[in-house]
Amino acid sequence: MSTLGAAVIGARMGSGHVLGYVNNPHTELRAVCDTDLESARRVAEKHSVPLVTDNWEELLERDDIQIISVATPDPLHEPMTVRSLEAGKHVLCEKPMALTVPECERMIAAADRTGKLLMVGQVCRFAPGFALAKRLVDRGEIGDLFFVESEYAHDYTHVGGVGGWRKDPKVKREPFVGGGCHAVDLLRWVAGNMVECSAYSNHKVLTDWPVDDCTIAIYKFESGVIGKVMCSIGCKRPYTMRSVFYGTRGTIICDNTSPAIQLYTKDLPESNGWISLPVNLASHNVTAEVNELVECILEGKPLLTDGREGARTVAACRAAVESAATGKPVAVRTQF
Ligand SMILES: NC(=O)c1ccc[n+]([C@@H]2O[C@H](COP(=O)([O-])OP(=O)(O)OC[C@H]3O[C@@H](n4cnc5c(N)ncnc54)[C@H](O)[C@@H]3O)[C@@H](O)[C@H]2O)c1
Repeated sequence: MSTLGAAVIGARMGSGHVLGYVNNPHTELRAVCDTDLESARRVAEKHSVPLVTDNWEELLERDDIQIISVATPDPLHEPMTVRSLEAGKHVLCEKPMALTVPECERMIAAADRTGKLLMVGQVCRFAPGFALAKRLVDRGEIGDLFFVESEYAHDYTHVGGVGGWRKDPKVKREPFVGGGCHAVDLLRWVAGNMVECSAYSNHKVLTDWPVDDCTIAIYKFESGVIGKVMCSIGCKRPYTMRSVFYGTRGTIICDNTSPAIQLYTKDLPESNGWISLPVNLASHNVTAEVNELVECILEGKPLLTDGREGARTVAACRAAVESAATGKPVAVRTQF
Protein backbone atom coordinates (compact mmCIF):
# COMPACT_ATOMS: atom_id res chain seq x y z
CA MET A 1 0.00 0.00 0.00
CA SER A 2 1.44 3.40 -0.94
CA THR A 3 2.48 5.93 1.69
CA LEU A 4 0.56 9.20 2.02
CA GLY A 5 2.62 12.32 2.64
CA ALA A 6 1.19 14.64 5.32
CA ALA A 7 1.75 18.23 6.43
CA VAL A 8 0.49 20.08 9.50
CA ILE A 9 -0.21 23.82 9.62
CA GLY A 10 -0.23 25.23 13.16
CA ALA A 11 2.21 23.68 15.61
CA ARG A 12 0.26 23.91 18.87
CA MET A 13 -3.00 21.94 18.63
CA GLY A 14 -1.31 20.70 15.47
CA SER A 15 1.23 18.80 17.56
CA GLY A 16 -1.53 16.23 18.20
CA HIS A 17 -1.93 15.89 14.43
CA VAL A 18 1.83 15.46 14.11
CA LEU A 19 1.70 12.45 16.45
CA GLY A 20 -1.22 11.03 14.49
CA TYR A 21 0.73 11.06 11.22
CA VAL A 22 3.94 9.82 12.85
CA ASN A 23 2.08 6.87 14.38
CA ASN A 24 -0.01 5.89 11.36
CA PRO A 25 1.68 3.12 9.32
CA HIS A 26 0.36 4.54 6.02
CA THR A 27 1.49 8.15 6.44
CA GLU A 28 4.78 9.97 6.51
CA LEU A 29 4.89 13.46 8.02
CA ARG A 30 6.77 15.56 5.46
CA ALA A 31 6.22 19.15 6.64
CA VAL A 32 5.32 21.27 9.65
CA CYS A 33 4.31 24.87 9.10
CA ASP A 34 3.87 27.70 11.57
CA THR A 35 4.38 31.45 11.27
CA ASP A 36 6.30 31.01 14.50
CA LEU A 37 9.19 29.07 12.98
CA GLU A 38 10.61 28.20 16.39
CA SER A 39 7.41 26.35 17.35
CA ALA A 40 7.38 24.54 14.02
CA ARG A 41 11.05 23.58 14.41
CA ARG A 42 10.57 22.29 17.96
CA VAL A 43 7.75 19.98 16.85
CA ALA A 44 9.47 18.90 13.63
CA GLU A 45 12.85 18.13 15.19
CA LYS A 46 11.35 15.57 17.55
CA HIS A 47 10.22 13.52 14.56
CA SER A 48 12.91 14.34 11.98
CA VAL A 49 10.40 16.04 9.68
CA PRO A 50 12.27 17.18 6.54
CA LEU A 51 10.45 20.47 5.79
CA VAL A 52 9.83 23.28 8.28
CA THR A 53 8.28 26.44 6.88
CA ASP A 54 6.41 29.58 7.89
CA ASN A 55 4.67 29.78 4.51
CA TRP A 56 1.68 27.42 4.26
CA GLU A 57 1.24 28.12 0.55
CA GLU A 58 4.56 26.38 -0.06
CA LEU A 59 2.85 23.11 0.95
CA LEU A 60 0.33 23.42 -1.86
CA GLU A 61 3.08 23.13 -4.49
CA ARG A 62 4.48 19.88 -3.11
CA ASP A 63 3.64 16.70 -5.02
CA ASP A 64 4.75 14.53 -2.10
CA ILE A 65 2.05 15.90 0.23
CA GLN A 66 -1.42 14.35 -0.07
CA ILE A 67 -2.96 15.34 3.31
CA ILE A 68 -2.91 18.72 5.06
CA SER A 69 -4.03 19.27 8.65
CA VAL A 70 -5.32 22.77 9.31
CA ALA A 71 -4.77 23.48 13.02
CA THR A 72 -4.57 27.27 12.93
CA PRO A 73 -6.88 29.93 14.45
CA ASP A 74 -10.52 29.47 13.42
CA PRO A 75 -10.72 32.36 10.89
CA LEU A 76 -7.95 30.69 8.85
CA HIS A 77 -9.79 27.37 8.50
CA GLU A 78 -11.80 28.39 5.45
CA PRO A 79 -9.07 29.94 3.29
CA MET A 80 -6.50 27.26 4.16
CA THR A 81 -8.96 24.40 3.63
CA VAL A 82 -10.34 25.70 0.34
CA ARG A 83 -6.89 26.37 -1.13
CA SER A 84 -5.55 23.00 0.06
CA LEU A 85 -8.49 21.12 -1.46
CA GLU A 86 -8.04 23.04 -4.69
CA ALA A 87 -4.38 22.05 -4.72
CA GLY A 88 -5.51 18.41 -4.69
CA LYS A 89 -4.91 17.68 -1.00
CA HIS A 90 -7.20 15.87 1.45
CA VAL A 91 -7.82 18.06 4.52
CA LEU A 92 -8.24 17.38 8.21
CA CYS A 93 -9.55 20.68 9.58
CA GLU A 94 -9.71 21.38 13.30
CA LYS A 95 -13.03 22.19 14.94
CA PRO A 96 -14.96 24.40 14.70
CA MET A 97 -15.12 23.85 10.95
CA ALA A 98 -15.47 27.65 10.71
CA LEU A 99 -17.04 30.47 12.70
CA THR A 100 -19.87 31.09 10.21
CA VAL A 101 -22.16 29.05 7.96
CA PRO A 102 -21.15 30.79 4.68
CA GLU A 103 -17.52 29.81 5.32
CA CYS A 104 -18.64 26.18 5.81
CA GLU A 105 -20.59 26.34 2.55
CA ARG A 106 -17.48 27.43 0.65
CA MET A 107 -15.47 24.60 2.22
CA ILE A 108 -18.11 22.01 1.28
CA ALA A 109 -18.26 23.38 -2.26
CA ALA A 110 -14.47 23.07 -2.59
CA ALA A 111 -14.56 19.43 -1.41
CA ASP A 112 -17.39 18.65 -3.84
CA ARG A 113 -15.61 20.39 -6.70
CA THR A 114 -12.28 18.65 -6.17
CA GLY A 115 -13.46 15.23 -4.97
CA LYS A 116 -10.90 15.39 -2.15
CA LEU A 117 -11.86 14.41 1.41
CA LEU A 118 -12.61 17.09 3.97
CA MET A 119 -12.75 15.84 7.54
CA VAL A 120 -13.64 18.10 10.46
CA GLY A 121 -11.85 17.22 13.70
CA GLN A 122 -14.81 16.79 16.02
CA VAL A 123 -12.60 14.92 18.42
CA CYS A 124 -15.25 14.06 21.02
CA ARG A 125 -16.46 11.33 18.68
CA PHE A 126 -13.10 9.66 19.28
CA ALA A 127 -13.00 10.07 23.08
CA PRO A 128 -13.35 6.51 24.43
CA GLY A 129 -15.97 7.40 27.09
CA PHE A 130 -18.23 9.19 24.63
CA ALA A 131 -17.74 6.49 22.00
CA LEU A 132 -18.78 3.81 24.53
CA ALA A 133 -21.82 5.88 25.58
CA LYS A 134 -22.83 6.20 21.93
CA ARG A 135 -22.50 2.41 21.40
CA LEU A 136 -24.67 1.74 24.47
CA VAL A 137 -27.34 4.17 23.26
CA ASP A 138 -27.28 2.65 19.76
CA ARG A 139 -27.61 -0.86 21.24
CA GLY A 140 -30.74 0.26 23.08
CA GLU A 141 -29.23 -0.29 26.55
CA ILE A 142 -31.08 2.74 27.96
CA GLY A 143 -34.17 2.45 25.76
CA ASP A 144 -35.34 5.43 23.72
CA LEU A 145 -33.68 8.77 24.41
CA PHE A 146 -35.90 11.59 25.63
CA PHE A 147 -33.41 14.13 27.10
CA VAL A 148 -29.70 14.69 26.44
CA GLU A 149 -27.34 17.26 27.88
CA SER A 150 -23.70 18.21 27.57
CA GLU A 151 -21.47 21.03 28.71
CA TYR A 152 -18.25 22.65 27.64
CA ALA A 153 -16.87 24.11 30.86
CA HIS A 154 -13.39 25.42 30.22
CA ASP A 155 -11.77 28.42 31.90
CA TYR A 156 -10.17 30.44 29.08
CA THR A 157 -8.58 33.05 31.33
CA HIS A 158 -5.15 32.02 30.01
CA VAL A 159 -6.30 30.52 26.69
CA GLY A 160 -6.46 33.62 24.49
CA GLY A 161 -4.40 31.87 21.81
CA VAL A 162 -1.11 32.96 20.21
CA GLY A 163 -1.46 36.70 19.57
CA GLY A 164 -4.76 36.70 21.49
CA TRP A 165 -6.99 35.74 18.53
CA ARG A 166 -9.64 34.10 20.74
CA LYS A 167 -10.37 37.44 22.42
CA ASP A 168 -9.80 39.68 19.40
CA PRO A 169 -12.94 41.83 18.86
CA LYS A 170 -12.36 41.70 15.10
CA VAL A 171 -12.50 37.88 15.12
CA LYS A 172 -15.50 37.85 17.47
CA ARG A 173 -15.02 34.19 18.23
CA GLU A 174 -18.28 33.20 19.88
CA PRO A 175 -17.35 30.70 22.63
CA PHE A 176 -20.48 28.69 21.85
CA VAL A 177 -19.19 28.13 18.30
CA GLY A 178 -15.48 27.84 19.10
CA GLY A 179 -15.73 25.56 22.15
CA GLY A 180 -19.43 24.79 22.54
CA CYS A 181 -19.28 23.03 19.16
CA HIS A 182 -17.76 20.03 20.99
CA ALA A 183 -20.86 19.58 23.15
CA VAL A 184 -23.29 20.36 20.32
CA ASP A 185 -21.57 17.89 17.99
CA LEU A 186 -21.60 15.21 20.69
CA LEU A 187 -25.35 15.59 21.18
CA ARG A 188 -25.96 15.61 17.42
CA TRP A 189 -23.92 12.41 17.10
CA VAL A 190 -25.83 10.66 19.87
CA ALA A 191 -29.36 12.04 19.35
CA GLY A 192 -29.47 13.24 15.73
CA ASN A 193 -30.12 16.64 14.21
CA MET A 194 -31.52 19.57 16.13
CA VAL A 195 -34.34 21.57 14.55
CA GLU A 196 -34.91 24.52 16.88
CA CYS A 197 -33.01 26.40 19.57
CA SER A 198 -33.74 28.85 22.37
CA ALA A 199 -30.73 30.25 24.18
CA TYR A 200 -29.64 32.73 26.84
CA SER A 201 -26.20 34.12 27.50
CA ASN A 202 -24.42 36.42 29.92
CA HIS A 203 -21.05 38.04 30.45
CA LYS A 204 -20.09 38.02 34.10
CA VAL A 205 -16.63 36.45 34.37
CA LEU A 206 -14.30 37.27 31.46
CA THR A 207 -15.44 40.87 31.34
CA ASP A 208 -12.37 41.93 29.33
CA TRP A 209 -13.41 39.58 26.49
CA PRO A 210 -15.61 40.97 23.67
CA VAL A 211 -18.16 38.11 23.82
CA ASP A 212 -20.61 36.63 26.29
CA ASP A 213 -18.76 33.97 28.28
CA CYS A 214 -21.69 31.75 29.30
CA THR A 215 -24.51 30.40 27.13
CA ILE A 216 -27.30 27.91 27.81
CA ALA A 217 -29.05 26.52 24.75
CA ILE A 218 -32.16 24.36 24.72
CA TYR A 219 -32.66 22.29 21.58
CA LYS A 220 -35.57 20.42 20.03
CA PHE A 221 -34.36 17.45 17.98
CA GLU A 222 -35.87 15.98 14.79
CA SER A 223 -36.57 12.77 16.76
CA GLY A 224 -38.59 14.57 19.46
CA VAL A 225 -35.72 14.37 21.97
CA ILE A 226 -35.02 17.59 23.86
CA GLY A 227 -31.55 18.68 24.91
CA LYS A 228 -29.47 21.28 26.68
CA VAL A 229 -25.94 22.56 26.11
CA MET A 230 -24.08 24.75 28.58
CA CYS A 231 -20.92 26.51 27.45
CA SER A 232 -18.84 28.59 29.86
CA ILE A 233 -15.35 29.88 29.17
CA GLY A 234 -15.13 31.74 32.47
CA CYS A 235 -16.11 29.01 34.93
CA LYS A 236 -13.78 28.41 37.86
CA ARG A 237 -13.29 24.65 37.79
CA PRO A 238 -11.13 22.14 35.92
CA TYR A 239 -12.10 21.52 32.29
CA THR A 240 -14.95 19.08 31.79
CA MET A 241 -17.56 18.01 29.28
CA ARG A 242 -19.98 16.32 31.64
CA SER A 243 -22.79 14.78 29.60
CA VAL A 244 -25.94 12.88 30.51
CA PHE A 245 -28.14 10.78 28.25
CA TYR A 246 -31.59 9.92 29.59
CA GLY A 247 -33.52 7.03 28.03
CA THR A 248 -36.80 5.28 28.78
CA ARG A 249 -34.95 2.36 30.44
CA GLY A 250 -31.79 3.92 31.80
CA THR A 251 -29.31 6.77 32.03
CA ILE A 252 -25.65 7.31 31.12
CA ILE A 253 -23.40 9.87 32.81
CA CYS A 254 -20.08 10.43 31.09
CA ASP A 255 -17.35 12.95 30.40
CA ASN A 256 -13.98 13.13 28.67
CA THR A 257 -11.79 13.44 31.75
CA SER A 258 -12.79 10.44 33.91
CA PRO A 259 -11.52 6.86 33.66
CA ALA A 260 -15.05 5.41 33.68
CA ILE A 261 -18.59 6.16 32.54
CA GLN A 262 -21.68 5.43 34.64
CA LEU A 263 -24.57 3.38 33.31
CA TYR A 264 -27.88 2.97 35.12
CA THR A 265 -30.44 0.52 33.87
CA LYS A 266 -33.55 -0.58 35.62
CA ASP A 267 -32.57 -4.17 34.71
CA LEU A 268 -29.71 -4.14 37.25
CA PRO A 269 -31.36 -3.89 40.69
CA GLU A 270 -28.56 -5.85 42.46
CA SER A 271 -26.06 -2.96 42.08
CA ASN A 272 -28.59 -0.28 42.86
CA GLY A 273 -28.97 0.08 39.10
CA TRP A 274 -25.60 1.77 38.51
CA ILE A 275 -22.55 0.18 36.98
CA SER A 276 -19.22 1.83 36.30
CA LEU A 277 -17.61 0.97 32.95
CA PRO A 278 -13.86 1.70 32.73
CA VAL A 279 -12.56 3.55 29.66
CA ASN A 280 -9.18 4.82 28.48
CA LEU A 281 -8.55 8.50 29.01
CA ALA A 282 -8.00 10.21 25.65
CA SER A 283 -9.93 13.46 25.51
CA HIS A 284 -7.92 14.73 22.51
CA ASN A 285 -7.60 11.52 20.54
CA VAL A 286 -6.32 13.11 17.31
CA THR A 287 -4.46 9.90 16.49
CA ALA A 288 -7.82 8.14 16.10
CA GLU A 289 -9.04 11.00 13.89
CA VAL A 290 -6.01 10.66 11.64
CA ASN A 291 -6.48 6.88 11.48
CA GLU A 292 -10.11 7.38 10.44
CA LEU A 293 -9.18 9.86 7.69
CA VAL A 294 -6.42 7.61 6.35
CA GLU A 295 -8.72 4.58 6.33
CA CYS A 296 -11.37 6.58 4.45
CA ILE A 297 -8.80 7.74 1.87
CA LEU A 298 -7.34 4.28 1.33
CA GLU A 299 -10.54 2.25 1.46
CA GLY A 300 -13.02 4.73 0.01
CA LYS A 301 -15.14 4.67 3.18
CA PRO A 302 -17.40 7.66 3.98
CA LEU A 303 -16.12 10.01 6.68
CA LEU A 304 -17.85 10.19 10.06
CA THR A 305 -17.41 13.97 10.21
CA ASP A 306 -17.25 15.30 6.66
CA GLY A 307 -17.84 18.94 5.74
CA ARG A 308 -21.61 18.58 5.85
CA GLU A 309 -21.51 17.15 9.38
CA GLY A 310 -19.11 19.91 10.46
CA ALA A 311 -21.44 22.51 8.96
CA ARG A 312 -24.54 21.11 10.70
CA THR A 313 -22.75 21.52 14.01
CA VAL A 314 -21.71 25.10 13.19
CA ALA A 315 -25.30 25.88 12.10
CA ALA A 316 -26.70 24.51 15.39
CA CYS A 317 -24.18 26.64 17.32
CA ARG A 318 -24.97 29.77 15.29
CA ALA A 319 -28.69 29.24 16.00
CA ALA A 320 -27.90 29.42 19.72
CA VAL A 321 -25.85 32.60 19.29
CA GLU A 322 -28.66 34.17 17.27
CA SER A 323 -31.35 33.11 19.74
CA ALA A 324 -29.38 34.50 22.69
CA ALA A 325 -28.95 37.81 20.84
CA THR A 326 -32.57 38.16 19.67
CA GLY A 327 -34.43 36.50 22.54
CA LYS A 328 -36.38 34.39 20.03
CA PRO A 329 -36.37 30.70 19.11
CA VAL A 330 -34.32 30.05 15.98
CA ALA A 331 -34.73 27.25 13.42
CA VAL A 332 -31.60 25.13 12.98
CA ARG A 333 -30.46 24.52 9.43
CA THR A 334 -29.68 20.86 8.74
CA GLN A 335 -29.53 20.67 4.92
CA PHE A 336 -26.10 21.19 3.37
N1 LIG B 1 -9.90 19.52 19.12
C1 LIG B 1 -9.73 20.22 20.23
O1 LIG B 1 -10.14 19.84 21.30
C2 LIG B 1 -9.02 21.54 20.13
C3 LIG B 1 -8.31 22.04 21.23
C4 LIG B 1 -7.64 23.24 21.07
C5 LIG B 1 -7.71 23.93 19.89
N2 LIG B 1 -8.44 23.43 18.84
C6 LIG B 1 -8.55 24.18 17.58
O2 LIG B 1 -7.27 24.14 16.94
C7 LIG B 1 -7.03 25.37 16.29
C8 LIG B 1 -5.72 25.96 16.82
O3 LIG B 1 -5.88 26.21 18.19
P1 LIG B 1 -4.62 26.39 19.16
O4 LIG B 1 -5.13 26.19 20.52
O5 LIG B 1 -3.48 25.56 18.68
O6 LIG B 1 -4.32 27.94 18.91
P2 LIG B 1 -2.96 28.70 19.29
O7 LIG B 1 -3.25 30.14 19.15
O8 LIG B 1 -2.44 28.18 20.58
O9 LIG B 1 -1.94 28.23 18.15
C9 LIG B 1 -2.19 28.54 16.79
C10 LIG B 1 -0.89 28.30 16.03
O10 LIG B 1 -1.13 28.62 14.65
C11 LIG B 1 -0.04 29.42 14.19
N3 LIG B 1 -0.47 30.24 13.07
C12 LIG B 1 -1.26 31.34 13.09
N4 LIG B 1 -1.42 31.82 11.85
C13 LIG B 1 -0.72 31.01 11.02
C14 LIG B 1 -0.49 31.00 9.61
N5 LIG B 1 -1.03 31.93 8.81
N6 LIG B 1 0.28 30.03 9.11
C15 LIG B 1 0.84 29.08 9.90
N7 LIG B 1 0.66 29.05 11.24
C16 LIG B 1 -0.11 30.01 11.78
C17 LIG B 1 0.37 30.25 15.40
O11 LIG B 1 1.69 30.76 15.29
C18 LIG B 1 0.23 29.24 16.52
O12 LIG B 1 1.40 28.48 16.72
C19 LIG B 1 -8.25 26.25 16.54
O13 LIG B 1 -9.12 26.14 15.46
C20 LIG B 1 -8.89 25.63 17.77
O14 LIG B 1 -10.28 25.83 17.81
C21 LIG B 1 -9.06 22.25 18.95
